[in-house]
Amino acid sequence: MTALPPFVAWTLLILLCFLTPPALAAKKILIYTYTQGFRHYSIPTAVSVIEHLSSTAIPPIETVHSEDPSDFESPDFLTQFDALLFISVSGKALSPTGANALREYIEAGGGFLGVHEACDALYHYSWYGRLVGAFFNYHPQITHATLNVNTSHPATAHLNATWRVYDEMYNFNSNPSLLGKQYVITADEGSYKDPVETVEQRARVQGEIHPIAWWKEGNQLDYNRHVKVGGGTDPTKKEIREGTAGTGGEGRSFYTALGHTNAMWKDEAFQQHIMGAVGWLLESPTLRSSSANASEGAVGSAFDPTAASRTMRKGATGAISGPGVSSVTVKGSPLPWSKSQISTSGTRRARGTRRSNVAAALAVSMLLAICV
Ligand SMILES: *[C@@H]1O[C@H](CO)[C@@H](O)[C@H](O)[C@H]1NC(C)=O
Ligand SMILES: *[C@@H]1O[C@H](CO)[C@@H](O)[C@H](O)[C@H]1NC(C)=O
Ligand SMILES: *[C@@H]1O[C@H](CO)[C@@H](O)[C@H](O)[C@H]1NC(C)=O
Repeated sequence: MTALPPFVAWTLLILLCFLTPPALAAKKILIYTYTQGFRHYSIPTAVSVIEHLSSTAIPPIETVHSEDPSDFESPDFLTQFDALLFISVSGKALSPTGANALREYIEAGGGFLGVHEACDALYHYSWYGRLVGAFFNYHPQITHATLNVNTSHPATAHLNATWRVYDEMYNFNSNPSLLGKQYVITADEGSYKDPVETVEQRARVQGEIHPIAWWKEGNQLDYNRHVKVGGGTDPTKKEIREGTAGTGGEGRSFYTALGHTNAMWKDEAFQQHIMGAVGWLLESPTLRSSSANASEGAVGSAFDPTAASRTMRKGATGAISGPGVSSVTVKGSPLPWSKSQISTSGTRRARGTRRSNVAAALAVSMLLAICV
């Protein structure tokens, strides 16, 4: 091929630079899986499932996976994320500096999803217990069990009124509903055997209704000084004295106790449960990405004015509402979740897509390198 005269080549390149559509800002989530205590063998499966489902979501969600507590210590590391996913983290999952960063992120309106063992971590921060909803008490041996489902939330809208699962039935040290958590999945205790028989042993502190999955919008870390919830979720004198008790947090949080096995993570119904929760978190109006003029100090990825219209065009499942929601605005709509995206054929397609994405990304970065 004959070389183009330099002038023509540069003109073409500069034209190309202008023709390249602006990169669309994607919502961005952190998948955090550091374990200081027990480590679930299903963590790698969980991570790859979430990464895959995020990349094929409409619109796609950007993921960052971390197992390094020191990431939380980098200034402004967390502010880029619309939501943090704590997947079966355990024990002292963060340094004091990292824990402060997490608390400040939540106070600034960031989203939080706790999955399975996420309730068995950071026991020495009462605000973490309030964020998750309760700390872990015990579980009987993994079992087949029937769950009762409230389908009013994007995380459960695809389920039937009851859901048969093979998973661990967690029990908690306190009652999450006392912190305003709205239950979407509860356990039918008659559907499985728990060798722990006495009422006291069976963690009745969690309430007569056995909670499994719940959500809350707004007031993530607030506490009532006159109402003790127990189970390590009430602020300690030391936290109050040091100003680290935590307060506010107008964003959204979701917790599900399910997700012990690889089989659960490969189950379509469970995958939609997780991604329904993620989609709902990402639509929080408190995020910088949700509004062109989000409040000062808001966290989240950059605002993308075209995302809202794209979401609407694809058809959203609608806002949720109901008693108990009144004090906290539940508005916005979940990211549309297409079932076909997680079918086997979808997986094959996605691999192809990823390859072409890589090629496109390479082309774009080469172009950018030249443009800049
Ligand atoms: C919901 O019920 C339908 C009809 O009985 C069944 O085919 C489907 O598998 C159920 N879904 C789940 C997640 O259990
Ligand atoms: C920005 O905020 C103001 C006041 O809160 C509101 O009236 C206005 O509609 C917002 N503009 C955009 C583009 O969101
Ligand atoms: C489902 O949850 C919503 C929100 O918490 C609540 O308003 C509604 O009453 C629940 N439905 C049932 C059948 O319990």
